[in-house]
Amino acid sequence: MKATVIGAAGGIGQPLSLLLKQSPLVTELSLYDIVNAPGVAVDLSHINSPAPVAGFTPQDDGLAKALKGSEVIVIPAGMPRKPGMTRDDLFTANASIVRDLALAIAENAPKAFVLVISNPVNSTVPIFAEVLKKKGVYDPKRLFGVTTLDVVRASTFVAEANGDNLNAGKYHIPVIGGHSGVTIVPLLSQAEPALKDQSKVDALTHRIQFGGDEVVNAKNNTGSATLSMAFAGARFALAVIAAAKGETKDVPDFTFVDLNADAEGAKAIKEVIGNDTAFFSVPVKLGKDGLEKILPIGKTSDFETEAIKKAVEALNGNISKGVDFVEGSKL
Ligand code: NAD
Ligand code: LMR
Repeated sequence: MKATVIGAAGGIGQPLSLLLKQSPLVTELSLYDIVNAPGVAVDLSHINSPAPVAGFTPQDDGLAKALKGSEVIVIPAGMPRKPGMTRDDLFTANASIVRDLALAIAENAPKAFVLVISNPVNSTVPIFAEVLKKKGVYDPKRLFGVTTLDVVRASTFVAEANGDNLNAGKYHIPVIGGHSGVTIVPLLSQAEPALKDQSKVDALTHRIQFGGDEVVNAKNNTGSATLSMAFAGARFALAVIAAAKGETKDVPDFTFVDLNADAEGAKAIKEVIGNDTAFFSVPVKLGKDGLEKILPIGKTSDFETEAIKKAVEALNGNISKGVDFVEGSKL
């Protein structure tokens, strides 16, 4: 299983590459960045886990070499936020980066699973989809926006609110919608174990929606979440790889996908969000060919139903912005 990290020399890219290198599920690791990836690759190559590691930069057709034969491509390339910025403020810097990466993937690894971390995820995933469609290689079951950090944060924050930090890893809280502010909708009514003090629902929902800001502000102009994101990104990438190898598990993964990936499974969520929202983070079952099934979101509280409405409004604008950007691009 050849995995490739694009943006591998960055704040997320380096620890994410380390976590992938540690996994026996990865048997070849390829790192690409516009700078420094060969050095990161040599460093990781001294670790005595199975995967050989190679690093590439744009020289000598490095991107094509990094991508050829890749089965999973994880993309944390592009600018992170600074205090006061929204994720949408990154659109100008990152939209053309992901568009060009999508073009290269269409040409060199059209069958790979593509996991998009670059923000704004609500727009960069639609950009990927549109480029791959235009190149005739789009398979919505193989394109994933990585929203695992929202799920990880939800479990951490709810366990903390319950005074149960030691068991945070055992908490399951569905988080649906998109990946920015109000588009992030945690379903705290379905938390397992349950949130003990229901008067905390409002504050916890807000904390999960704006958890990224906590890190951006604490890092004080030096970037956004990198280590927790690497943890979350590796967790999701390894789930995709394990499922591709035929492993099954009981709990769903949550990821921002094109709802056409499973039109039948998406019917229930469309009854809640309407037909205008093409992408949504939903619970999914992964399988050999990527997304196997979109799972039901379960019963939502009135508070959550309201939050979903607000999420949809904001999300539709983010999605159209990505689609329009590709429409206006010469490919
Ligand atoms: P960073 O600046 O530390 O690293 C980004 C890396 O991308 C750099 O090494 C840079 O050289 C590289 N890069 C830039 N253009 C490239 C290109 N065309 N091809 C290949 N590599 C390129 O940033 P970071 O903190 O690692 O964050 C990366 C992205 O991930 C940001 O957009 C950030 O907002 C996003 N992010 C997403 C989530 C999420 O939950 N999905 C969480 C955290 C951060
Ligand atoms: C996060 O949720 O931490 C990331 O999307 C980075 C950010 O900009 O907050």
